[in-house]
Amino acid sequence: MAPTTRKSSTSGNEIRLRAALKWAGGKYSVLPKLLAAFPDAPRLIEPFLGSAVVCLNTNYPAYILNDNNPDLIAFYRFIKKDGHAFIRACESYFSEKTNTKEAYEKYREKYNNILLHGGSRRDRAMLLLYLSRHGFNGLYRVNSKGLYNVPHGRYTKVKFPREELLNLHRKFQHAEIRHGDFEGTMRLAEPGDLVYCDPAYVPLSDTANFSAYTKMGFSLDDHKRLADTARELGKNGVNVIISNHDTDVSRDLYTDARIQCFEVQRNISRDAKNRGRAPELLAFFGPAANR
Ligand SMILES: C[S@@+](CC[C@H](N)C(=O)[O-])C[C@H]1O[C@@H](n2cnc3c(N)ncnc32)[C@H](O)[C@@H]1O
Repeated sequence: MAPTTRKSSTSGNEIRLRAALKWAGGKYSVLPKLLAAFPDAPRLIEPFLGSAVVCLNTNYPAYILNDNNPDLIAFYRFIKKDGHAFIRACESYFSEKTNTKEAYEKYREKYNNILLHGGSRRDRAMLLLYLSRHGFNGLYRVNSKGLYNVPHGRYTKVKFPREELLNLHRKFQHAEIRHGDFEGTMRLAEPGDLVYCDPAYVPLSDTANFSAYTKMGFSLDDHKRLADTARELGKNGVNVIISNHDTDVSRDLYTDARIQCFEVQRNISRDAKNRGRAPELLAFFGPAANR
């Protein structure tokens, strides 16, 4: 393992790099708070990668990056390997003509047809970027058959994120990119590593909502498994930080961790009354818990 340690390149008022994909739960807006809490480490491990905006804004010597969304990971692997050629090909999907409801629905169907009937994985990866930038609010939502069903976002202008894609290409040259459940990736951590976990959050209001969350793939049992794994790694000298809503449920999950809380702006709900500020926490396990 590389002996050097260096953490974030971003704090306070520094420029923050943006993600290429719009992704629900993206951490762009809380990066200064988050990165200020990150300790130095020889390697950053992110088992819930999402938009990759966290690793993009750090400067660790090495990374292990994972998500259980196979299309997201296929997309990132094309960026890592095919870089400029893939980015140029993605750009062909971005024009005034392709930013209409009709074009969006045609491409969404094409994306789903590749899953249903087979086809080019590279085309599907390019379409993921198109759908993410043109769809409603960066939601990645599929139905019970796995078919993407997010409506058109009706943006007057859609920017092609060339710089953002190039930044990812550069970052990924220092990263192992994995697909799968979080636990296997967490268990690759060695003493001194930093593991940052950003799962789908526990519901803000009450635990009854957990059934809806479970359909999205992250149950209360998953949260317990995550907390248990973090605790175990922490005892072995790994620094683990978990993000979550600050609720009674999450306080129970992380009883033995050091907790830091703050407020964030929520904006993914269509329903205005569900927008506003929400309390979040960071739970620290391992040596950094004692700072
Ligand atoms: C809140 S998002 C992460 C956002 C990310 N930190 C960012 O700033 O964009 C949670 C991610 O966890 C992934 N995920 C959900 N369940 C998972 C599991 N069991 N194992 C690994 N990844 C999972 C989702 O696909 C999603 O990309």
